[in-house]
Amino acid sequence: MKQPHLTIVKHPLVQHKLTLMRMEQTPSSEFRRLLRELSMLLAYEVTRDLPLTQIEIQTPVTKTTAPVAEAKKLTLVSILRAGNGILDGMLELIPSARVGHIGIYRDPQTLTPVEYYFKMPPDMGQRDVIIVDPMLATGNSAAAAIARIKDLKPLSIKFVCLIASPEGVDLLRDEHPDVPVFTASVDEKLNEHGYIVPGLGDAGDRIYGTK
Ligand code: URA
Repeated sequence: MKQPHLTIVKHPLVQHKLTLMRMEQTPSSEFRRLLRELSMLLAYEVTRDLPLTQIEIQTPVTKTTAPVAEAKKLTLVSILRAGNGILDGMLELIPSARVGHIGIYRDPQTLTPVEYYFKMPPDMGQRDVIIVDPMLATGNSAAAAIARIKDLKPLSIKFVCLIASPEGVDLLRDEHPDVPVFTASVDEKLNEHGYIVPGLGDAGDRIYGTK
């Protein structure tokens, strides 16, 4: 099936770095470095349509007009806690972007997403939003985060992850067909514990060395 809302970033550097991140023996320090680099490459892809405005500048040779990106309107929203790993790399490339955080966990009894933290910049109605989370697994947290951000009526929303499951991609396409998804890979499946297979394990634990 054609999925116009889905972009798989197949650049060789993206794929190479993702393979190193998948490897069990890659330590947290290296994992974080690779995630930073990969996030910059994904940021490059997801900001392709960022609007440019012309400004007047003086070069050492002459006056001219030249384009600058309108990145101040851009808001990066991290789904805690693993989203912060992507945030760091993206902010290096787009330092003037604003940042929001959303904390959501899945209630073990009801399996519904529960929000425990929500902090966004002002004027969200004037902003283009990029939501980041390394793993799009069941898609429930991502769909809940997108719905919450939609309430604030931003100009646009995109979703960026490193690895998606087919189930997560389908859920976002069904619940939020207007939100383009960018990923480095759509893996084989989800296992019975909700982990992506082959995946890279628990992204938060691998970033922060908590396991
Ligand atoms: N979250 C993770 O960190 N890894 C998975 O495989 C699924 C969800």
